[in-house]
Amino acid sequence: MKIGIEKISFFTPPFYIEMKHLAQARDVDPAKYTIGIGQDQMAVSPVHYDAVALAINAGISLDLTAADKAEIDTIILATESGVDHSKSGSTWIHRALGIQPHARAIEMKQACYSATAAIRLAMGHISLHPDKKVLVIASDIANYGIHTPGEPTQGAGAVAMLLSSDAKIMAFDTQSVPYTVEISDFWRPLYSDTPFVDGKYSNQAYVETFQGAWNGYKALTGRVATDFDALLFHVPYTKMGKKTLQSLAATGDLTDETLSTFTAIYDEAVIYNRRVGNLYTGSLYLSLISFLEQAEAARAGARIGMFSYGSGAVGEFFAGELMPNFETYLQKERHEQLLDHRFLLDIPTYEMVLSERIAVDEAGNWLADTSLGRPGQVVLEKISAHKRYYKMI
Ligand code: CAA
Repeated sequence: MKIGIEKISFFTPPFYIEMKHLAQARDVDPAKYTIGIGQDQMAVSPVHYDAVALAINAGISLDLTAADKAEIDTIILATESGVDHSKSGSTWIHRALGIQPHARAIEMKQACYSATAAIRLAMGHISLHPDKKVLVIASDIANYGIHTPGEPTQGAGAVAMLLSSDAKIMAFDTQSVPYTVEISDFWRPLYSDTPFVDGKYSNQAYVETFQGAWNGYKALTGRVATDFDALLFHVPYTKMGKKTLQSLAATGDLTDETLSTFTAIYDEAVIYNRRVGNLYTGSLYLSLISFLEQAEAARAGARIGMFSYGSGAVGEFFAGELMPNFETYLQKERHEQLLDHRFLLDIPTYEMVLSERIAVDEAGNWLADTSLGRPGQVVLEKISAHKRYYKMI
């Protein structure tokens, strides 16, 4: 029994900006964004592409079969962009994807980390019920607001994973090491639409949490960095993973030579992230898809180390092994087309989209302008008497 990823796909909204245009508008040297931060483009999500709509679209792109839908007994939406304090986004996903009724549907939160928690819970569940499958979808919209230091590190998207005891793409190791410390590096209080963030401190907290999890992992498993064929990271912006690799060189875990090998592999593992930006919970898993679909080092039997980080803060270091013929289960062409066929927004339009908020009338009604979207994609159609309705355009 190999517990892990049987299917994996992602979705990002059909709108984006070029980072060099944003740099020009903010009177910043474009190299700060493209080299210093390491981002080329940034996905922009209008209000009708909310986190649930993004998740449904990612779920659709898994091409679940009738057998999958009958075997999925748990749906977990991992998000920090939830649309309701009470009802889980997974209930809409359950309806939209036509999953059998005897399934549980829940939502999990711990900043950008919760998809990893969802996977670990799913592994335990599947080991008890090997005939069942778990659908994990990580979906988020990173919106710091215009003219903020976090602005160039925004983005949006969702990654969907079908987990089962028949891992066709990646089998996860049972050993992994989490690391928790209560801090306030990035957080979004219930009364705020946008997060508060102590940018420099969040970078430092990320690396310290990585070191905490990594040292625990080394002690538990006896493995060293060079036992891995690639090291992947949560990617709030692509420079962050490089900083973390450099921290491994500073502690003597990597030499100059192995640092440059892992950095070259990491560069291929963030090709998609450079074009999407931060998708919070899904960022590590978008990097995994980029690695699987774009990196030369991705080959059957490769052992991949992964670090998941969620501010506040929880991190976890874990690993997986690529399965024979894993490449035949990927959707490279679909993903490249998704990224290539987006609408480019100019900066004034992006600012308008980012500032838009849903405002229901006294009866709790609101109607989306669904002409803004791509046919075949699911969007939030309306809010009627405070209830949300999604439809395919
Ligand atoms: N050419 C090339 N590089 C340049 C440059 C130029 N002209 N100008 C500046 N740079 C470099 C800087 O040297 C710096 O590089 P290093 O980090 O390697 O030193 C980099 O560009 C960024 O410059 P600054 O540090 O001056 O940038 P800033 O003060 O505007 O803030 C930031 C950057 C802290 C990442 C900010 O965008 C931010 O707060 N982002 C949100 C928080 C975040 O993403 N934190 C990450 C860890 S927390 C996490 O991971 C959870 C999550 O998802 C949010």
